[in-house]
Order: sequence, then structure tokens, then C-alpha cells
Amino acid sequence: MKLNSTRAQRAQDSQKKISQRRFTTPREMLDNCLEKCPGPYECPYGGVLIFESSPTEQPIPIVCPRYQSWLKQVELEHKLREIVPDNLADKSFENFMIRSASSGEALKLMKKYVKARAWEQGANILITGPYGAGKTHLAIATIRKAIEVGDTAALVLAVDLLHGGFQAIDERFEALRGVDLLVIDDLTTEFENKYFLQRAFELIEHRYRQKRGTVFTTNLPMRDFMNALGSKMFSRLYESLLTIEIKDVDDYRKTLRDKNLEWLKEE
Ligand SMILES: Nc1ncnc2c1ncn2[C@@H]1O[C@H](COP(=O)(O)OP(=O)(O)O)[C@@H](O)[C@H]1O
Ligand SMILES: [Mg+2]
Repeated sequence: MKLNSTRAQRAQDSQKKISQRRFTTPREMLDNCLEKCPGPYECPYGGVLIFESSPTEQPIPIVCPRYQSWLKQVELEHKLREIVPDNLADKSFENFMIRSASSGEALKLMKKYVKARAWEQGANILITGPYGAGKTHLAIATIRKAIEVGDTAALVLAVDLLHGGFQAIDERFEALRGVDLLVIDDLTTEFENKYFLQRAFELIEHRYRQKRGTVFTTNLPMRDFMNALGSKMFSRLYESLLTIEIKDVDDYRKTLRDKNLEWLKEE
């Protein structure tokens, strides 16, 4: 409460101060404001200045670019949190470390996928690798970029797609048709389920025709994945599918665990 009233008071004071001074152009007013900018979170004007050249002229609103880009970032983080679990929402290309030649290659290819917005052409990706290799990390970093450019995205765990009866499963698959970029994360034994395989394949085909891409992650060896798909399905998927294999990396979760349990070493 106290904080709010202080902030409101400060806002009033600054509004007074800024309106006491006359600026000749909106640009000058904005530059002056940016010089003293306390940061968007503390902005007393809610990101909009009002320029009045004279009492007779119509006031001109000036939208602050710094505030706008902050707002965009906040909205992005918000959207991302609706799509991915909270503990994974900070994953990005920037905080992905290259831990082997193939993980560097994976990062490079996923960045290319993003740069070309290749999901909008129906391009699909399969990322394989052991647990903790960073597959989900890369998939989330890709989602982050997709929503940054205004596309819609979804991330589903493969195992969650199989809950419930046939109708529930069908509905779930159908709901995923329209999203621009889809990530089906952590495929494992679902692929041995013929019903899942059929639905998943129909979904991918439909999405491909609508020029919407899907990223799969799996810890299955590539060969098992192809075997599960069957040669007919695989060859139809092949034209739109890039496979990326992350190798020669330890489970990163182990590194994180060691870090989180450092307190144990204290005497
Ligand atoms: N190359 C990497 N750089 C930074 N963090 C990583 C890397 N690989 C994995 N991690 C982190 O380790 C944890 C597990 O990674 P995750 O992407 O979930 O692995 P996977 O999906 O391959 O099993 C996550 O917190 C992730 O951010
Ligand atoms: Mg994963």
C-alpha cells in the first residue's frame, strides 16, 4: 500500500516536472525522458508521453520504444509460461552450451530452422539423444523464437497424448492440428502403440499439408524410431523430416544435481 502511494506520488511529481518544461519536438521530449529513465517497470507514464506544443494544438501521444520492447518481452515470457512448464521456461538458444560436436551441430541446425521459420513450410525435425542431452531445451528455445515472431506454438509430452479412451485421444490429436509449431516431447514406448502411431502420423501429414511443422524429441535410437514407424510411413515422412542426433554428452541433469547438492559437502 505504502509502496503504491509512494509510486503514485512519484508519478505525479514527474508528470508535473515534465509538463513544466516545454519541448520543441516529440523526439526531444522522448530523449529527455529516456535520459532519466528509471526502467520500464518503474515508468511513471505507463510508457506513453503526451507532447503538447501549445495549448491550442492537439496533444500528441509518444509511445516509448524502450517500454514497448520491455512489454513485448514480458508478454512473451507470459505466453511461454502458458505453453511450457515453469521450470523450463527460461530455456533459450543463448543459454544452451555446446557440449560436444553434435550438440553444437544440433544448436546450429535448430537456429537455422528458426531463421527460416521452416515450420511455416511444414518442415519437421526429429531430435534424438540420451536423457539430459538438451533435446527439450532446444525444442523450447525454438518455441520461444516462434512466439517471438507471432506464431502459435504448443508443447505436449508424448505420454500425455495417450491418456483416456479413444475419443479423448482423438480430440487431443485434433486440437494440435492448427498450431503453427508443435513439439511432441519425449517419445518413448508410445510408438509401439499402433493407435498412437496412426493418429500421430495423420496429424503430421495434415500439418504438413497445411504447412505447419512438428519437432519430435526422443531418446530412442534413430533405428528404433524408423523401425517403429515402418518403412511406408517413414518414407512419406522423410521428405519433410530432418533428423538431428545429439551424441557424446553426459546427462546434464547430473551436473545440475551436483550443483544443487553442493550444500551436502559443507562440514
Ligand atoms: N547443452 C546444454 N546447455 C545448457 N543446459 C543444458 C544443456 N543440455 C541440457 N541442459 C539442461 O539440463 C536439463 C535437462 O535437459 P533436457 O533438455 O530436458 O534434456 P533431454 O530433453 O535431452 O532429456 C535442463 O535443465 C536443460 O536446460
Ligand atoms: Mg526431454
